[in-house]
Amino acid sequence: MKDIIFEQCHQHYNDIVTIRRDIHQHPELRFDVERTAGIAADALNTLGISVKTGIGKTGVVGDLEVSGATKRIALRADMDALPIQEQTDVPYKSKIDGKAHLCGHDAHTAMLIGTARILSHLKSSLKVNIRFIFQPCEEAFPGGAPAMIEDGVLDDVDEIYGIHVFPLYSVGQYATCTGPMLAQSDTFEITITGRGGHAAFPHLTVDPIVVGTQFVNAAQSIVSRNVDPLDSAVVSVTQFHGGDAKNVIPPSVTLGGTVRTLDKDVQKRVRTQLENLIAGIANAHEATYTFAYQEGCPVTYNHEPCVDTVVSSAKALVGKENVIFPIPPILGGEDFACYSEKIPACFVMVGAGNEQKGIVNMCHHPQFDIDETSMIYGMALTTSIGLMGNR
Ligand code: NI
Repeated sequence: MKDIIFEQCHQHYNDIVTIRRDIHQHPELRFDVERTAGIAADALNTLGISVKTGIGKTGVVGDLEVSGATKRIALRADMDALPIQEQTDVPYKSKIDGKAHLCGHDAHTAMLIGTARILSHLKSSLKVNIRFIFQPCEEAFPGGAPAMIEDGVLDDVDEIYGIHVFPLYSVGQYATCTGPMLAQSDTFEITITGRGGHAAFPHLTVDPIVVGTQFVNAAQSIVSRNVDPLDSAVVSVTQFHGGDAKNVIPPSVTLGGTVRTLDKDVQKRVRTQLENLIAGIANAHEATYTFAYQEGCPVTYNHEPCVDTVVSSAKALVGKENVIFPIPPILGGEDFACYSEKIPACFVMVGAGNEQKGIVNMCHHPQFDIDETSMIYGMALTTSIGLMGNR
């Protein structure tokens, strides 16, 4: 089967590169992915797959029905770009200032179109129904996954799989793990209000900058002193805004940041301790505060039977030496988590880096790119998952 799969992937490769480059040149953000969704819908329609559009606002869902099949597995691609200026000089560079596909979702969309073509062609070998999910808004919260779930995208689906191109692994490699793979990604925002005044009369003020810096320093102890050393967490304060003049103590400051965790109890502990610290420190200085905590995507969790399907498919395709398993969890977030919270799921990294070609920049880097031959391996894996679906 491996030979047939790769032969099919090579046959469609040039077309898929063209589609990927077209999407790359015309990036769309968040839910505003009409053009990209149109490309996906047209491609599925051409194959005679039944297509629904407008799922989760602008998502596209295609069902490849196999007669006699009772099981349905879903393959998901995300379609949105990032609000970043691309700094590459590739011929297919983004044509839109301030928007670019710097997380590879252009490739995800193109690859899933390729997989739909291949699985349609190999339909007589399929034992399960396949649902192709093209999702908007992975990069912003609340994202496209909850919106699509709300619109029933997981109805009658038994398992779901997602892939992500990943330049830290080389083309021809796959990487995944069982259990938590990507973090819950939350954000917080704090306002500290003191009493502003003349910088030369600090004793007549309550200086929110001093309160804020003490909070930032104290927050560094949460991971080191409140979280079990064998658990994982990130607390990063990423915003600190306050003050307009060099000789004025401002009345208030605002701080913001992110919390990443792989476990609900750890997440609760971090959240509680953040608020304890700001409450105590503000109180000690006679300042007041507001604390807003926004829970983001949950943990992306890989379920064992789905992991087995992925790992055995991957080993059959590239040999076990090229399957990096299990990888340690990554503290990035991914809204594929929302699917994995509902049904058995597995998320996989597809190696897209190539040191010799200088393709080494991580996702979200302004010079991020993929080695496009990685799309052969992305298509090969999802095709194989579909074919193995009724294990
Ligand atoms: Ni991404």
